[in-house]
Amino acid sequence: MKLNWMRISVLLVMALALFAGTAAAKISKETQACLDCHESMPGVVKQWEKSEHWQAGVGCYECHEAKKGDVDAMDHYGYTVSIIVSPRDCGRCHPDESAEQEASHHSKAGDILNTKDGVLGQTVGGEPAVVLGCRSCHGSVVKVIENGKLDPTTWPNGGIGRNNPDGSKGSCSACHQRHRFNIEQARRPEACGKCHLGPDHPQMEVFEESKHGNNYLTYEDELNMDHAKWVVGEDYDAAPTCATCHMSATPTQGITHDVGDRNSWNLRAPVSKRTKNWEKKLDAMKDVCSSCHNPNYVDAFYSQLDEFVALYNNKFAIPAKEIVGILKKEGVVDNQPFNDEIDWLYWELWHHEGRRARHGAAMNGPDYAWWHGIYDVAKNFYKEFLPAAKHLSEEAGKPEVYKMIIKKYIDGRPEHEWYTKGFDKKRMEELKKYYKDRYNQKVE
Ligand code: HEC
Ligand code: HEC
Ligand code: HEC
Ligand code: HEC
Ligand code: HEC
Ligand code: HEC
Ligand code: HEC
Ligand code: HEC
Repeated sequence: MKLNWMRISVLLVMALALFAGTAAAKISKETQACLDCHESMPGVVKQWEKSEHWQAGVGCYECHEAKKGDVDAMDHYGYTVSIIVSPRDCGRCHPDESAEQEASHHSKAGDILNTKDGVLGQTVGGEPAVVLGCRSCHGSVVKVIENGKLDPTTWPNGGIGRNNPDGSKGSCSACHQRHRFNIEQARRPEACGKCHLGPDHPQMEVFEESKHGNNYLTYEDELNMDHAKWVVGEDYDAAPTCATCHMSATPTQGITHDVGDRNSWNLRAPVSKRTKNWEKKLDAMKDVCSSCHNPNYVDAFYSQLDEFVALYNNKFAIPAKEIVGILKKEGVVDNQPFNDEIDWLYWELWHHEGRRARHGAAMNGPDYAWWHGIYDVAKNFYKEFLPAAKHLSEEAGKPEVYKMIIKKYIDGRPEHEWYTKGFDKKRMEELKKYYKDRYNQKVE
């Protein structure tokens, strides 16, 4: 009996300690006032109550508080709050993540107006499409109307490089969805998939078709994505997600919020170039791969990737870029974007087809490397782009421009010989023999 009583008192003390340790005891009086009114928004309040922030006593007011005089300060039932909780606000408690995010390309993604993509969106398309298209991924320039209310042409917006009223750039909730701010949600590929998909940057589709994505889908329950610490090789080993390769920790590397930290190539530019300090970045990515593969395998993969990038650059991208330059310089077409057939063909060659190819190659999606990739690049280059260069030169009364182009970029180049001269005899004989041996068919 005595023992049981002791046990019960120990349990009671533990229960009391636990109760005192819950967030309920730590909620500030300001946050309590927010909660009293905001209970009618369960999708906000209940999500927050399931969060680590609730556990730690970080409430509505601790995030939304603003100072009188802040550009976006809202006088709200006796409290001064702001609607946007910017990277700078989060940075009061998470300074490292905030600084890394600020240094990344992500934080600059809102500055896209004065690009060809920008002209395409705003002029060829139209402003409402920019608001719900481009800016929903890239980020708007948020404007304040009065008393902290935000201009509906610029808000709601969750773009990755949003320009916030306080001058900071980015949106942490682009990846960490409110109000749960659940770490597992951010580690899943779906967190990136809102933006990284589609005809011009199909990272999500590439991942899903890769063996990495296949293992992710098979073993997602074994990946311990809810662990506080999530080190590849220690907490999980079955598959990498986007976060594993681009952000998360390895036994020798910390988490980074600069998603470019491990990329040695720029694979989205018209012609791919090395990134700044690329050797260091390459080592950082190889270190990730090495938790699951041996170094020779990883080196060999990178030599395949480098060869692929060289093929795209040298055979198609550089010639196409220079050919468009010549057509403009020689007055065959004018200097405006998107008003000539060749502008569209060249655009799709690098911005859609060429990117798909490079992203497929970099992230183990063979269908994107070839069929949606180099196949489409080659089909465009030989069957649309060059023929357009020809007939545009002729229509402009300058056929010699096309002749000069062919002489400079096609003739005498072994990689293009088949286009002007056809396949060589030996290759055709081999082809015939193969079809006969394998299918008993004739090649005409
Ligand atoms: C007296 C009730 C009341 C209190 C107290 C209150 N709110 Fe609100 N809040 C509302 C209502 C109602 C709305 C809906 C929009 C409106 O009527 O302004 C709202 C809207 C908001 C919005 C969105 C505004 C917009 O225009 O999109 C934010 C952010 C917000 N509240 C945060 C807070 C925070 C943080 C606190 C605590 C410091 C708080 N509220 C305290 C009632 C309240
Ligand atoms: C960890 C910080 C954090 C906490 C804690 C927090 N919020 Fe928010 N809240 C945000 C972020 C981030 C946004 C999205 C705006 C943005 O992108 O900056 C937001 C948006 C909102 C909005 C407007 C968007 C909508 O869907 O209507 C309301 C209202 C709001 N919060 C109310 C609350 C209330 C009430 C609480 C307390 C239960 C709370 N917030 C706690 C960070 C926080
Ligand atoms: C007042 C301080 C404070 C503010 C402001 C704040 N946080 Fe936190 N945050 C914490 C604390 C404390 C924890 C829990 C302990 C830890 O993981 O550091 C936490 C944890 C987190 C986690 C990890 C959650 C998990 O499941 O492990 C994420 C993600 C996060 N915060 C994101 C944000 C974002 C995004 C913002 C801004 C919208 C923000 N925080 C604003 C204090 C804050
Ligand atoms: C579905 C989300 C999404 C939409 C919609 C979108 N983009 Fe993008 N954009 C991205 C992503 C993701 C990248 C980065 C691609 C990569 O790294 O491979 C990107 C890249 C870019 C770049 C290249 C940036 C650089 O540093 O090289 C520009 C410029 C751009 N987009 C402008 C636009 C414009 C303008 C629109 C609308 C006409 C638009 N985008 C629509 C997601 C989007
Ligand atoms: C591109 C998506 C993305 C953006 C944007 C982003 N995060 Fe994260 N964040 C992640 C991922 C993924 C993790 C999980 C890393 C891991 O532990 O594997 C994470 C982890 C965290 C953690 C927990 C770190 C730890 O040591 O456990 C905090 C805190 C955090 N983020 C805060 C922020 C803040 C603040 C911002 C805005 C300045 C932000 N994040 C923007 C994706 C993002
Ligand atoms: C809300 C949209 C959005 C989300 C979500 C998003 N990104 Fe991005 N990402 C972009 C855009 C837009 C760019 C191009 C930025 C630029 O160069 O202007 C980009 C660029 C990148 C780059 C190239 C960076 C560089 O320095 O070259 C990487 C890598 C990347 N994102 C990885 C991720 C990962 C991993 C996630 C998920 C954890 C993620 N992104 C989530 C929109 C997004
Ligand atoms: C197995 C590791 C791995 C996974 C998983 C992975 N990536 Fe990558 N990613 C890479 C490598 C390797 C590169 C090229 C690195 C280089 O430049 O050296 C790359 C490049 C990129 C780029 C840069 C493209 C550019 O235009 O420059 C983006 C953006 C990106 N990845 C996003 C994602 C997203 C989003 C996911 C998930 C849907 C993802 N990655 C999954 C390894 C990975
Ligand atoms: C968390 C473990 C893990 C990480 C990290 C990882 N991989 Fe893998 N990788 C795998 C698994 C599992 C397979 C499937 C193995 C098989 O073929 O049976 C695989 C397959 C591959 C393949 C073969 C693709 C195919 O279609 O046959 C290549 C190439 C590859 N990985 C390269 C990389 C590179 C490069 C990195 C780093 C950028 C990397 N991996 C990171 C686990 C990982």
